[in-house]
Amino acid sequence: MAEPRGVEGRVCIVTGAARGIGRAIGEALLDEGACVCFADLDGARVANVAEENRERTGGAAIAAAVDVRDRAQVRAMIGRTVEAFGRLDVMFNNAGINKPMNFLDVTEENWHLIMDVNGLGCLIGIQEAARQMIAQGGGGKIVNTASIASRQGFDNVAPYCASKWAVVSLTQSAARDLARHDITVTGFAPGVVDTEMWEQVDRDLMEIGAAERPGQAMEEFSAEILKGRVARPSDITGTTTFLASRASDYMTGQIVMIDGGMTLV
Ligand SMILES: NC(=O)c1ccc[n+]([C@@H]2O[C@H](COP(=O)([O-])OP(=O)(O)OC[C@H]3O[C@@H](n4cnc5c(N)ncnc54)[C@H](O)[C@@H]3O)[C@@H](O)[C@H]2O)c1
Repeated sequence: MAEPRGVEGRVCIVTGAARGIGRAIGEALLDEGACVCFADLDGARVANVAEENRERTGGAAIAAAVDVRDRAQVRAMIGRTVEAFGRLDVMFNNAGINKPMNFLDVTEENWHLIMDVNGLGCLIGIQEAARQMIAQGGGGKIVNTASIASRQGFDNVAPYCASKWAVVSLTQSAARDLARHDITVTGFAPGVVDTEMWEQVDRDLMEIGAAERPGQAMEEFSAEILKGRVARPSDITGTTTFLASRASDYMTGQIVMIDGGMTLV
């Protein structure tokens, strides 16, 4: 009989899973029979997400409160997952933040905040997941959330773009280092996805005078999308489940664009 190539029985962690893209990634994995740890800074909200999903599917969903910038908390999240499900097969480093500022006004504080969550958080997540995978043996997969902002610099979100370019280079560096352990490291790059992140971006852009009304930024960013509309989180999950599955075993060091044809790179 052929080896199973899906995600059934695979143990996965998804960070930033209290809402938006991360929640959808976790739910899609659970629907395909994976065991999922939903992890987020918002511990109360992510606990509800896991509970709702256990009720919805009867599946193996747990929650972990984690700040991805804090190595001890990331280790505890992995420990909790291994305690519940026996191992870790797939790590999604998905948690991310944005805080727009006009380019000339960007402060050190803004830079450090965004680079710490999106860049350092990704590095720590890769390292700690890999340590667990190496210790248990049998390889594994690490999947990082990049962005169209990993391919182009945009003016009001310079640190965010820098942090998402960092995700690409961390993916490549880690892929080179971890291949000898049969650990693959890939990423995916969404374009404009309709999530709560955009509500915050709207508020910030209006505050700095770069937008006049809610929804304007999303409209302007979306004008060039060949598919003619912004993405829903469910547009992303076919690819993320594939990247978590054995069907993608021969891919590593790559970033898959999922932007409806917005950037063509
Ligand atoms: N929405 C988009 O258009 C878009 C496009 C490209 C890339 N992305 C990326 O996709 C990922 C998810 O975005 P989203 O739109 O679902 O955002 P979102 O703001 O809706 O959700 C992000 C989640 O991450 C959590 N989080 C923030 N800081 C954290 C930390 N330090 N530790 C742990 N969790 C933390 C938040 O609590 C939140 O639940 C992010 O990396 C984002 O940069 C989003």
